[in-house]
Amino acid sequence: MRAMAGSTLGTLLRVTTAGESHGPGYVVIVDGVPAGLAVDLEALRAELGRRRPGQSRLVTQRREEDEPEVLAGLLDGQTTGAPIAILVRNRDARSADYDELAGVWRPGHADATFDLKYGLRDHRGGGRSSARETVARVAAGAVAKQLLATFGCRVVGWVRQVGEVVAEVPDPAAVTPGQVETLPDGSPNLVRCPDPAAAAAMAALIERVRRERDSIGGIAEIVATGVPAGLGEPVFDKLKADLGKALLSIPAVMGVETGVGFGCAVLRGSQCNDPWLSAEPLRTATNRHGGTLGGISSGMPLVLRAAVKPASSIAREQGTVRRDGTPTTVRVKGRHDPCLLPRFVPVGEAMVALVLADHWLRARAAAPLSASMGVRSPGSGEAE
Ligand SMILES: Cc1cc2nc3c(=O)[nH]c(=O)nc-3n(C[C@H](O)[C@H](O)[C@H](O)COP(=O)(O)O)c2cc1C
Repeated sequence: MRAMAGSTLGTLLRVTTAGESHGPGYVVIVDGVPAGLAVDLEALRAELGRRRPGQSRLVTQRREEDEPEVLAGLLDGQTTGAPIAILVRNRDARSADYDELAGVWRPGHADATFDLKYGLRDHRGGGRSSARETVARVAAGAVAKQLLATFGCRVVGWVRQVGEVVAEVPDPAAVTPGQVETLPDGSPNLVRCPDPAAAAAMAALIERVRRERDSIGGIAEIVATGVPAGLGEPVFDKLKADLGKALLSIPAVMGVETGVGFGCAVLRGSQCNDPWLSAEPLRTATNRHGGTLGGISSGMPLVLRAAVKPASSIAREQGTVRRDGTPTTVRVKGRHDPCLLPRFVPVGEAMVALVLADHWLRARAAAPLSASMGVRSPGSGEAE
């Protein structure tokens, strides 16, 4: 008997998710948010709406409202400092679509490894391996984003690449949420790519791939601005290491880069270094380092990219084996994303926001004794 552990992330801001794709729903508990944060539930709903299945013709057609129910941790719209619990129910699970998958392993999905490790598997929608779990992360991330906003930090993600179509984004730190969500003509930006020409080409490519009963991968870019210098801990808890883990924990992420990323391999030191411009505030002339040096935020925009594979579930016949090892073929039924990137964007943003909020709380907790702790001393009634 093995436990399915590892559902908690963070040190001072701790997030735990529970739920399965075809169970009653998902719960997320966010522990460690300071008291007194006004939580905008409309903004939280909007984040869930960006991740929601069925939002456009380019994504899975599973129909979920994804209405968040706050069970604990808020009083009159403000955090109390107690754990925040949010429930999102599953409404449109069609378990019959998965009947044929009970004893067959889908290529590229988690079926074989789950079977091997736990000896049993919730084949209906993938159980715990389903990316529907990311609905819980986005709910938690929406709270984290609101905490970050109190000190002017913002996380914006978008689709940089789908297949061979690459967006032209001259200044990643200047991309606005409006550009990601809406095209210049006012119509919804279904792909979430801020380069309108590339967005149109990506949408056409995703449509084509869907008609071909296939799927396609891509790259999302996520940028955080207003990140204070000094977040992150040497040695194992480097900011980029924690961000890397958070992004790699999202289903289907195959690689993560910061700054010039893998591009550093072909650069000389003279081409890769960022000359310092000033000490107060810390500023560099260029941002090839991507916002962290020595695992500690530099105050420059944090620039991350995640490579996301094509959804493995495709309605084409593929060779595989049954649980007993006998060869067979499988054609995956059900409703699946032909390209994960448009729905990935809010998930990636949420994970980055959660890590930044956690490290911000850690930096506050590790402040020198001389610094204001914002704590009232007993009896004096004065803030220290
Ligand atoms: C937002 C989102 C939606 C996803 N939807 C699907 C899907 O419809 N079909 C599918 O096969 N995989 C989907 N995935 C990816 C699988 O969950 C993932 O490939 C699987 O759990 C195996 O994990 P791994 O690819 O990280 O090894 C999705 C991932 C994300 C981030």
